[in-house]
Amino acid sequence: MNSTIILITGANSGVGYATTKVLVSASKDFHIIMTSRSLTKVKTAMAELEASKPAGSLSALELDVTDQQSVDTAVAHVTSQYGHLDVLINNAAIGSRGPDVMKRFQDCLTTNVIGPAVVAAAFRPLLLKSSNPYSLFVSSGAASMGKASDPTDAVYKVNIPNGGAYRVSKAALNMLVLQEWIKYAETGLKVFAVCPGFVRSNLRGKSEEEVSGWGQAGDPVVAGEMILGIVKGERNADVGKFVWKDGVYAW
Ligand SMILES: NC(=O)c1ccc[n+]([C@@H]2O[C@H](COP(=O)([O-])OP(=O)(O)OC[C@H]3O[C@@H](n4cnc5c(N)ncnc54)[C@H](OP(=O)(O)O)[C@@H]3O)[C@@H](O)[C@H]2O)c1
Repeated sequence: MNSTIILITGANSGVGYATTKVLVSASKDFHIIMTSRSLTKVKTAMAELEASKPAGSLSALELDVTDQQSVDTAVAHVTSQYGHLDVLINNAAIGSRGPDVMKRFQDCLTTNVIGPAVVAAAFRPLLLKSSNPYSLFVSSGAASMGKASDPTDAVYKVNIPNGGAYRVSKAALNMLVLQEWIKYAETGLKVFAVCPGFVRSNLRGKSEEEVSGWGQAGDPVVAGEMILGIVKGERNADVGKFVWKDGVYAW
């Protein structure tokens, strides 16, 4: 029986997939529950990772962060199978696309803010049964108010196509993280906002140009390695903060 139970949302793609790959390769003690809004997609992703016979173990679960029923069903499954959860990684998100401002904001806020809020609340009782619980929220450095208001910072004028709704949603997520930390710190829940860096994924679209961020995006495995470090306790000095691989960002 694996001793550390980890659940990650949006595990079939990009940062979620790469993080799962790093975690499951790192220790036989890790069991990673890969979740996705599509059971077919996450089972395919799991089969790919299992082909390399990793040290740890995997399971696949459907979880749509915008669907309360789906979240509740996932919680019931984890409760009956494991009785607790050690690490929750709220990773799933969408970018903002399309010309309709109302729809962009509604979609981004629903998936990137309300989704993690619902998931965090639903899994919190299971996390609080762990002797060493971590709650991670994957955010974005482009949402840091400190960076975004600094004319010398690269994100001050960053050109994310239709990026307003996405950046606003991640800034709101950061406030959610801060509140989660302040409210539950005394329980031992270690809460982090995490910037994965600018990495290859489907967030910007599925063409090679978009996946590669027009040739600028790095390897999401680097984000997975940072998350592994957090799970191993190597970043405990930064608990309650907005971390990136080499330091801490201003909220
Ligand atoms: N890539 C970057 O450069 C970058 C930079 C900063 C922050 N981030 C953050 O990194 C995280 C992961 O994104 P990514 O870059 O890896 O993009 P990605 O490849 O598009 O992965 C996003 C994942 O979220 C899933 N998802 C979307 N809506 C969902 C829902 N309603 N319920 C459950 N899952 C849902 C997607 O599922 P489908 O496959 O079904 O769409 C996919 O598995 C996000 O929080 C993102 O904001 C990424």
